[in-house]
Order: sequence, then C-alpha cells, then structure tokens
Amino acid sequence: MSYQFLSVRRDGPVEHLVLNRPDVRNAFNAEMIAELTTWAGAFTRQSEARVVVLSGAGKVFCAGADAAWMKKTASYSEAENLRDAGAASSMFRALDELPVPLIGRIHGAAIGGGAGLSAVCDIAIADEDAVFGFTEVKLGIIPAVISPFVLPKIGRSAARELFLSGARFPAARAYKIGLIHAAVPAGDLDDTVARYVAEISTGGREAIAAAKALIRDVWGRTPADAAPITAAALAARRVSAEGQEGLRAFLEKRKPGWLT
Ligand code: COA
Repeated sequence: MSYQFLSVRRDGPVEHLVLNRPDVRNAFNAEMIAELTTWAGAFTRQSEARVVVLSGAGKVFCAGADAAWMKKTASYSEAENLRDAGAASSMFRALDELPVPLIGRIHGAAIGGGAGLSAVCDIAIADEDAVFGFTEVKLGIIPAVISPFVLPKIGRSAARELFLSGARFPAARAYKIGLIHAAVPAGDLDDTVARYVAEISTGGREAIAAAKALIRDVWGRTPADAAPITAAALAARRVSAEGQEGLRAFLEKRKPGWLT
C-alpha cells in the first residue's frame, strides 16, 4: 500500500513507520490521521513483523496537529468536529493497541499530538536535546484526544502542571515523568533502538502480544477484579504451543524454536 504522508519500510523483523511531512515538521492533518489508522489496521491484520519503529522524517519527530487543518476545523459544525476528533481518537487507539511493541524514535521535538504519539509507544527513546510540550492551551484548545494515553504514563501531578501551563520541557523531564524511557545523545538513537529490537526479538511473539494486552486489561482493576483475567491469561499461555515450547527449551537448556 502506498501513502502520501507516511513512509513504510520493512527490514527483517522491523517495520519502520515514518511520519513524512517534513516541511511542516510532520504535523498531522485529517489525511495523515486516516493513513495512520489504515496502516495500523492493515498491520494488525496481516504483518509478521516483530516490532514497529515510529520516527519522523526531517528535522523533528512531530509538531502535533497541523495548524492549517485546525484552522479549517474552526469553521466546522460541532458535529463535524466530533467526527474529526473521533477519527484522531481512533488513530491513537489503533497505534496503542498494535499487537507488537511500538518503539518511538524521537528526535528534535514532540509537541501536542506529537507528545501523544510518544505516549502510545511501548518504548520511547528520545535524543537528549529533544523538546516536548502539551502546548494546546496556548492555542485555546486542550490535549483531549491524547489524554487517555498520556495520563497513565505521566500521572496526575505532571499532567496538572504541564497541561495547564502548556510549557515546553526537555527530554530529561520527559524521562523523569515516564513519557520516554531513555534520553540519549542524538548519535546513539539508532543503536539504542536496535538494542531494544534485539531484546524484543528473543521473546515469544504471542507472549509479547499477550503481555501488552495484559497491561491494558489489568490496569485500573483491583487485584480481586484482576484475578480471573490474570489467571485466564496465564493459563492460555501455558497451554499454547509457544508457551510449551518456551518452557521445554528452557528446561532442556536450548534455544526456543522461534530463535532457530
Ligand atoms: N502545523 C503546521 N505547520 C507547522 C507546525 C504545525 N503544528 N509546526 C511547524 N510548522 C511549520 C512552520 O509553520 C514552518 O513553516 P514555513 O517553513 O512555511 O514557515 C515549518 O513547519 C518549520 O517550522 P519551524 O518552527 O521553523 O521549525 P523548527 O524546526 O525551528 O521547530 C518545532 C520545530 C516543532 C519546535 C516548531 O515548529 C513548533 O514549535 N511548532 C509548533 C508546535 C505546536 O504548537 N503544535 C500544536 C500543538 S496543539
């Protein structure tokens, strides 16, 4: 499938998904949102890739919502705006629920929805000079659509400060609040991403997908509420071919089948 605002490349177990509107710093409009949603659906249905690396072409990762698109939405009716915001929600959810790890390779800047993209990454690695911000209030809007993904990552306290001030903040702060998992020199970004890819490639594909779903299913439940879900999830892995092969390989001190 070809896209206007994305570039997609497969390299062995890795699918590289690149936001590709460098002239506007990869700001997203309705078309790019639709393309990301389409890509996520197609990937979820049929890809055999083990991991997706999300990055941005050109100088920065992503400058958030496209100002020209936002200007257009100002003349939309409330119903049209609802449809538009719903499409953005679907896009973030589709990325959030990919069945494989999504690694964010964040350079330069991740502002507004760009910081939201960082939040839907399972593993987000930024260059130490990258700048972040939930700057929506500066434009008289709010980080609404991204909030279900950002809040569990950064928590209420940081959200209250950063959503309300709209202040930009450095990668070191993004690391401290859990929005990213490492801040490294720009020259080390690719090696750091590659190390995560190598680590992920040693795990069972189905187990990794189940671990990702487990986090989503258990989050926010009490241990009592979670117990039937966790028991069922573990039992399903234990009786699966992959789970049985993994355990047998461990006991027999050999590599599991998926690594040979
Ligand atoms: N929507 C539309 N166009 C955008 C944009 C956005 N969100 N962000 C940047 N651009 C455009 C600029 O208007 C400029 O266009 P021009 O070349 O026609 O003048 C071009 O991208 C380059 O922007 P510039 O600010 O010079 O790039 P930079 O590399 O110095 O800085 C950013 C990159 C991301 C830090 C900076 O562009 C920025 O802060 N953008 C605004 C982010 C924002 O407020 N997003 C909305 C969140 S709700």
